[in-house]
Amino acid sequence: MSAVMAEKPFLLEAEGLAKAFKGLLAVHNYHVRVSKGEILGIIGPNGAGKTTVFNLITGVLPPTRGWIRFQGHNIVGRAPHEIARMGIARTFQNIRLFRALSVRENVMLGLQMHARAGLGETILSLPRFLERERRLADEAMHLLELFDLDHLWASPAQSLSFGHQRRLEIATALATRPSLLLLDEPAAGMNPSEKEELMGLIHHIHKEFDLTIIIIEHDMRVIMGICQRIQTLNYGEVIAEGTPAEIQANPRVIEAYLGHSQPMGTLLQRA
Ligand SMILES: Nc1ncnc2c1ncn2[C@@H]1O[C@H](COP(=O)(O)OP(=O)(O)OP(=O)(O)O)[C@@H](O)[C@H]1O
Ligand SMILES: [Mg+2]
Repeated sequence: MSAVMAEKPFLLEAEGLAKAFKGLLAVHNYHVRVSKGEILGIIGPNGAGKTTVFNLITGVLPPTRGWIRFQGHNIVGRAPHEIARMGIARTFQNIRLFRALSVRENVMLGLQMHARAGLGETILSLPRFLERERRLADEAMHLLELFDLDHLWASPAQSLSFGHQRRLEIATALATRPSLLLLDEPAAGMNPSEKEELMGLIHHIHKEFDLTIIIIEHDMRVIMGICQRIQTLNYGEVIAEGTPAEIQANPRVIEAYLGHSQPMGTLLQRA
């Protein structure tokens, strides 16, 4: 056998991904390779296909073409709940929470993904079921402390401020114990101090939970501040990939933003 250097496996790999919506090619020839522990940013003008990429990775939408591998397994064709169980969690551009449930109950639902009681167990052993519920409630409180939301544990999710709801959504995603966390515009609608806190929080959970993160974000200060590598999408295609410094200096990126309503220059001044 020839001496071949062992290649470092990627946590997530996609190649030749495409998604067509009735004639519109929302994603075209998308490719990505993410190593374990990395924080990758995805930027691009409105409608560039960023959220669609997340929908493809999480199985919400089937790709028209291409493949996606997570931890070496093909995940194309798997149901969203299977992909979640394998270790991919996400947040949504428009926050999705169980609005009428309490803050703690929202987190407990995430925790239950790996701890669901069978019906038999629930009926046959009520004490064991109750014991588990107590344990989940304790675990949920620990997570809420980390997100500085523990004092709000009994409040309905819908009563929280926008910034708190965004944090709670990240907490519920983390509760499913993912190895890959996908964040879709987590800073959207936040004020500057909430954004600052969010950046600290993302750094913290990245280390604490041994996470790999992909973050879509329009706020350049946030994206440049936390990502090691950034991909730029335009019309569904990757037009640039590199370090924050390389991306800021890339003429194709600047042009993509200048052609839209969000001049990159203005965005970069804030960075
Ligand atoms: N389910 C869908 N059905 C039809 N068209 C869709 C669907 N989802 C997305 N699109 C279209 O695909 C394109 C890419 O949308 P996508 O939401 O991925 O963009 P985005 O980069 O996330 O934009 P934004 O920054 O505004 O969130 C858009 O033209 C959008 O209208
Ligand atoms: Mg989007």
